[in-house]
Amino acid sequence: MRAKIAAGNWKMNGLSAALAEVGALAAAHPAPGCTVLICPPATLLAQMNWQVGQAKAPFHIGGQDCHPAASGAHTGDLSAAMLKDAGASHVILGHSERRADHGESDALVRAKAGAAHAAGLIAVICVGETESQRDDGTTLAVIAAQLAGSVPDGATPANSVIAYEPVWAIGTGRTPTLAEIAEVHADIRARLADRFGAAAAGFSLLYGGSVKPSNAAEIFAVAHVDGALVGGASLKAADFGAIIAALDAA
Ligand code: PGA
Repeated sequence: MRAKIAAGNWKMNGLSAALAEVGALAAAHPAPGCTVLICPPATLLAQMNWQVGQAKAPFHIGGQDCHPAASGAHTGDLSAAMLKDAGASHVILGHSERRADHGESDALVRAKAGAAHAAGLIAVICVGETESQRDDGTTLAVIAAQLAGSVPDGATPANSVIAYEPVWAIGTGRTPTLAEIAEVHADIRARLADRFGAAAAGFSLLYGGSVKPSNAAEIFAVAHVDGALVGGASLKAADFGAIIAALDAA
């Protein structure tokens, strides 16, 4: 059985006051049937970890990026061990916003994932095509190349999750058709099988890009969709809670 995961990516949103949303989520969903992961800005990790512990909520906390090195002279960066020390169990890597804003290559994402694994973090490795790549018909080739380049050889279902996030669907309110999601997720599973054999069946595959309460259930019904990576709709407890409930019911 693959882990079902509802992951929230707060991106560069949230001051201390936003932690009230986590309290509300814990009150409304004290015992979710899926893995609930919240990835706040790094400044809130330790506070959120404390708060989740106080609430006895079974929520996991994650970072949004880490440096490939274990420590050193890298002003402004955070190591995987630092995230772990602050209470993180997961880290999002290779998000399209980091690939675009910071020029992150597949090789860098792969190095970061290796660092995450070495520190005992689960890497949530993101892949996804741009709108022009989809229009060109190269979606599956782009994603195959990203998987080959970004997923390290040491990846296992226990230490890695793959998130498919079409760049054009992130924050836009637009989503692929269910058939398009199904095609890409089945192809990701097949590419993982080429590389990791039978273990491929154990990797959780998340869809991300404009997931919201109104479309979560139909997306979760698609084969090989084991959960979601949610941006905007993860910021409010009511919306994220509805997505968690949809995944519980899937
Ligand atoms: P969105 O973001 O849900 O706001 O589209 C998803 C993501 O970037 O992970």
